[in-house]
This record gives sequence, structure tokens and C-alpha cells, in this order.
Amino acid sequence: MASEEDKYFEVALGLVKSAGRMVRDAFDRPFSEVQTKASNTDLVTETDQNVEILLTRGLSDAFPDHQFIGEESAAAGKKIEFTDAPTWIIDPIDGTTNFVHRIPMICICVGLAVKKELRMGIVYNPITNELYTARTGQGAFKNGFRIYVSKTEELSKSVIASTLGIHNIVSQGPSWLDKSLSNARRQVEAGVRGIRSFGSAAINMVCVAQGSLDAYVEYGLHCWDVAAAAVILKEAGGVVIDPTGGEFNMMSRKVLCASTKELATQLSGMLTHANYEPEG
Ligand code: IPD
Repeated sequence: MASEEDKYFEVALGLVKSAGRMVRDAFDRPFSEVQTKASNTDLVTETDQNVEILLTRGLSDAFPDHQFIGEESAAAGKKIEFTDAPTWIIDPIDGTTNFVHRIPMICICVGLAVKKELRMGIVYNPITNELYTARTGQGAFKNGFRIYVSKTEELSKSVIASTLGIHNIVSQGPSWLDKSLSNARRQVEAGVRGIRSFGSAAINMVCVAQGSLDAYVEYGLHCWDVAAAAVILKEAGGVVIDPTGGEFNMMSRKVLCASTKELATQLSGMLTHANYEPEG
């Protein structure tokens, strides 16, 4: 017999696929108008807003007592409230800058938390047609096939995703750039195989989940960037922690993901960290 959570997953998946068609259509059209939010590097398009409306309306029609945390509703002033109620955490387009510049590294992210525990995650790139899904205790999948993290334990065998985090200059001040560059420098000096920056937190995380990347670290994120992908990464056997080495908290605005505990510990130990007020 189908459980309540089976139903949640089925409805969310259907809506994510419809949202994917919307994003794909917009991606194929000529460039349209872009607005900025908190800063010149914080972008939003009509598509981000329409996708969030499609997902939230569809889910609240099906599950009227569920709650929502969404990137664009938060930007429009809705308070982030994280309670024990089933709560959908939505990023309509993770990688909006990529979307605006027509770089095909974008995804729709839908995560569900129940009693504050993440239970399922869907990350869908409608341009490359890569659909990642996971439910707690049931494994992680890409287009229906099981995925697993790499077994890499050494920095010298790792490809790591990170970013300069240009938007952090607004919240952390101009010294942020020095911290960020010296964090990258330490990774290079440790002999990593490569550093990548894909412009979408969730894509970085599912790349660790499928074993293409070995680790990913970023500061200044939001819960909607990481919630869905965190479930996928854990279910693929990966480690998701706070960059300082503590427990992962999706509201803490930072994340470190790795294929193994050994790699996570080494990476965490070599970084200069940034602190944020938790959201929600
Ligand atoms: C952004 C992307 C980007 C990360 C930013 C996020 P958005 O999300 O995940 O990779 O560096 O911190 O805000 O705004 O495109 O949903």
C-alpha cells in the first residue's frame, strides 16, 4: 500500500517535471529581462518566480496543511518559518546566473522536511535531462539508476568544487576575498587534482553524490540551495557537514560535502571559515 510519503514524492516529482518544461522553454527563448535582488550578483527572472508559483500551488492544492520555504517567496518578504509541519524547501532555479547567461548548469530543487528532518530530495536539470532523487533510507538515483559517491580519502586524488563566493563580499566585507583565495590556495598546495565551480550549489552536491566530484565546500548559501541535494548526497553514501566540522544545519548558510569522512576532515581542517546568522 502506498504510504503518505509515497504520495508526497509522486506529486512533487510530477510538478518538478512540469516545471522542467517551463524552464527548458524559457532557456530556449531569447534572453529576457533580469532583475537584481540584494545585490548586483543576486539575480531573479520571471521564470524563477513562475516556477516557484507552479510548485507551491501544486503542492499546496494536494497537501493543504503543508508549509513552504522558497527562494523567491523569501525574496518577496515571506518570513522563513521552519516548524515540525511537513515543509517543502524550494529553489525554483538553482544557478540563476547560469540560467541568465544560458550556461546549462541549472536545476530545480525540491526538498521535504518532516518534523525538521529532511526526508526527500529532487534535483532536476531540465536542460541536460538529469533527474536526481532520493528518499531517506531508500538510496539515491539518477534517472532511475542508483548512484554512489567515490571512495576518495585523499586530497591529492580529489577534484573539489568551491567558489570565490563573490556575493559574500556584501555580508562578510572585502576581506572575504582574501580568505576565499587563501582557502583555494591551500587546496592547490595540498595537491588536489582540480578545483571546479559550476555556479549551482545543488549541481555541485549531486556531482559529489554521483562520484564525479570528491568534495564541495561553500559559504553564504541558503537552505533552498542545499536541502534537496543533501538528502541525495547522504543517500549516495556521502558526508554532509558544517565546514567547521560540526553537524550539518541547512539553516547555517554553509556546507561541506565529501565522498568520505577522511576527506571531509582534511578539507575542513585547512579552511578559514565564515560565520552567518542562521536563517529561519
Ligand atoms: C546560488 C547558486 C550558486 C551559489 C550561490 C547561490 P541561486 O543559488 O547555488 O552556486 O554560489 O550562493 O545563491 O541564487 O542561483 O538559486
